[in-house]
Amino acid sequence: MTALVDNFQRRIKYVRISITDRCDFRCVYCMSEDMEFLPRNQVLSIDELAFVAEAFESLGVEKVRLTGGEPLVRRGVDDLVDKIGALSGIKDFAMTTNGAQLDKYARRLFDGGLRRLNISLDSLDPERFKALTRTGRLDRVIKGIRAAKSAGFERIKLNAVILKNRNDDEILDLVEFAYQEGVDISFIEEMPLGEVSDHSREETFMSNDDVYARIRQKYAMVPLAESTLGPSRYYQLIDRNQKVGFISPHSHNFCADCNRVRVTVEGRLLLCLGNEHSVDLKETIRTYPGDLEKLKQVIIDAMGLKPEKHHFRTDGDVQVVRFMNMTGG
Ligand code: GTP
Ligand code: 5AD
Ligand code: SF4
Repeated sequence: MTALVDNFQRRIKYVRISITDRCDFRCVYCMSEDMEFLPRNQVLSIDELAFVAEAFESLGVEKVRLTGGEPLVRRGVDDLVDKIGALSGIKDFAMTTNGAQLDKYARRLFDGGLRRLNISLDSLDPERFKALTRTGRLDRVIKGIRAAKSAGFERIKLNAVILKNRNDDEILDLVEFAYQEGVDISFIEEMPLGEVSDHSREETFMSNDDVYARIRQKYAMVPLAESTLGPSRYYQLIDRNQKVGFISPHSHNFCADCNRVRVTVEGRLLLCLGNEHSVDLKETIRTYPGDLEKLKQVIIDAMGLKPEKHHFRTDGDVQVVRFMNMTGG
C-alpha cells in the first residue's frame, strides 16, 4: 500500500472531512450573522464523500473525523456513517458536532460504527449560551451529551472556545461539568478564520496559558506524555481522575507532528488549516466517476503542497479568508 508522506517526512494518517457548511447555530467566533451557504451542486454528495473516505483509507489513513458546519444537519449523514463505518482500515471514526441533535442521532451513529464524539460547549448559562451561539439552546446540547453517553460512546470530549470577558469566568465551571458528566474537555484558542462581525478578535483573544493558569489556581495538574499527534496537549488533574486538554494554535504550534489533512465540503483537499494550499478533488471525482486509482493519485501528488507550518496572526489582520464552517475546524 502506498503511504501518504509529505515533503517534511510527516505521515498522513488522519483526514477530517467536512460534510456540510450549514449549521443550525451561528456561533459568534465561527460565522457572520448573515452567512450565505453554498449551492447544493457545489457540495459533494453522500456517495462522493464516501468515495473520498475510501480513497484515503486505501492510502493508509486510519482516522476519519466528520465535521461541518454541523454534520448532523446534512441529510443522509446516517448513510454516510454506515459507509465509512464499514471501511475496515478506519480504526478511529469520529465526529465533531454542536450536540443539538444528538438526542435524535446518537444511537443511530453508534450503530453505524462511529465511536468518538467531540461536542462544542462554551457556556453553562442558558442566556449566555444563546448569545454565543446566536440560535442554540443549552438544554438540547446537554440532552445530546447524555444521549451520547447512553448510546455507548466512550470517549466524549467537550470543546470550549474561551473569549475574554464573554465566558472566561466559566472555565472552572466547565471543568467541573465535564468531571460530573464523566467526559473530557479541551479549551480552544479562537482562530482567525473568516471575518466576524460580532467582536474584535484582538480584544477577545484569550491565550490558553491564561486558561491554564486559571485552572491551576484550583487544581494541581501534570502534563500527560501521551500524544494524540494532534493539537491538544493534555494534563491530568492530580486529585481526581480527570484530563483537561488545551488546543493552542497561537501559543503552541504543533505543526512538526502534523498528521492530518482536510477535505472541505466542496471537495477541496486542504493541506493545512492555516494556509490556502489546496487541490480540487471534486473535479477529479466528477470528471472520472468511480475511478479510485485516479483519485488516489491526485491525493498522493497533493502531499507535496503541504506547508511546513501555519501562520495564524492575532493582530486582527485576517489572513485566512475561509470561515471555520467551510473548513471543518
Ligand atoms: P482529534 O483530532 O481527535 O484529536 O480532535 P480535535 O480536538 O483535533 O478535533 P475537533 O474537531 O474537536 O477540533 C477542536 C479544535 O481543534 C478546533 O477548533 C479545530 O479547528 C482545532 N484543530 C483541529 N485540527 C487542527 C489543526 O490541524 N490545526 C489547528 N491549528 N487547529 C486544529
Ligand atoms: N476558532 C477556534 N475554534 C473554533 N471553532 C469554530 N470556529 C472557531 C474559531 N474561529 C470550534 C468549534 C468546535 C470546533 C470544531 O471548532 O467550537 O468545537
Ligand atoms: Fe455551527 Fe460549530 Fe460553527 Fe457553532 S462553531 S456555528 S456549532 S459550525
